[in-house]
Amino acid sequence: ARTAAVIPAAGRGVRLGPGAPKALRTLGGTPMLIHAVRAMSASRAVSLVVVVAPPDDVAGVRALLDEYPAPERTEVLVVPGGATRQESVRHGLDALPDSVTTVLVHDAARPLVPVDTVDAVIEAVRDGGAAAVVPAVPLADTVKEVEPAADGAPEPVLGTPERARLRAVQTPQGFDRATLVRAHAEVTGEVTDDASMVERLGVRVVAVPGHEEAFKVTRPLDLVLAEAVLARRRV
Ligand code: CTP
Ligand code: MG
Repeated sequence: ARTAAVIPAAGRGVRLGPGAPKALRTLGGTPMLIHAVRAMSASRAVSLVVVVAPPDDVAGVRALLDEYPAPERTEVLVVPGGATRQESVRHGLDALPDSVTTVLVHDAARPLVPVDTVDAVIEAVRDGGAAAVVPAVPLADTVKEVEPAADGAPEPVLGTPERARLRAVQTPQGFDRATLVRAHAEVTGEVTDDASMVERLGVRVVAVPGHEEAFKVTRPLDLVLAEAVLARRRV
């Protein structure tokens, strides 16, 4: 009964602008991927981390991980990623040894998730008996459904879901391994997270409290916020 974390880190980071692949960009002088690996290995329950690297730089990522060793209790594997996040996660799942029963999937782009959030997700899967668990936070903005239009043209508003019932969903998402593997085998089509694949199987997914510091570094302004959060931690 081992818990492993799969870290998809194979994306380019197009929305962040030109530069190295997003996971290799630095925060406080340390690559985002290293922060993400540390965030997972900070949990005593995590004994294996599988990093899914840009396919053209697997050796470079392996060398980087060796430069910043994880705690002794944590094994770190590197596998090549795919064309989509979904495909990258699948490559990570394929590398898991049989002993793994609980899997976390954590974006390299969420480098600052606190260990308490990681532990809460693991506990909800292992002791709470949920096959899929997502960390989630309430929204500050009102959300509207629109009919998307191109190039900044006005978009007709179709409706406004009640904000109090909405959550922004983060990672790590936690899963019973067999359930997640089945979801990745059976569910096709575009998805933006792993839990939605499990939802499509008809399996119950639960949300636990996430954390504001688990935000995803997506656009340049997010890097400014991440640097500030890190600086605040260091004082
Ligand atoms: N990811 C991946 N393989 C892909 C695409 C994305 O492993 N083919 C990973 C990213 O490295 C990231 C996580 O999935 O850690 C979340 O994706 P996102 O924030 O969208 O990152 P990118 O796809 O790299 O960014 P963008 O969409 O702006 O290009
Ligand atoms: Mg992306």
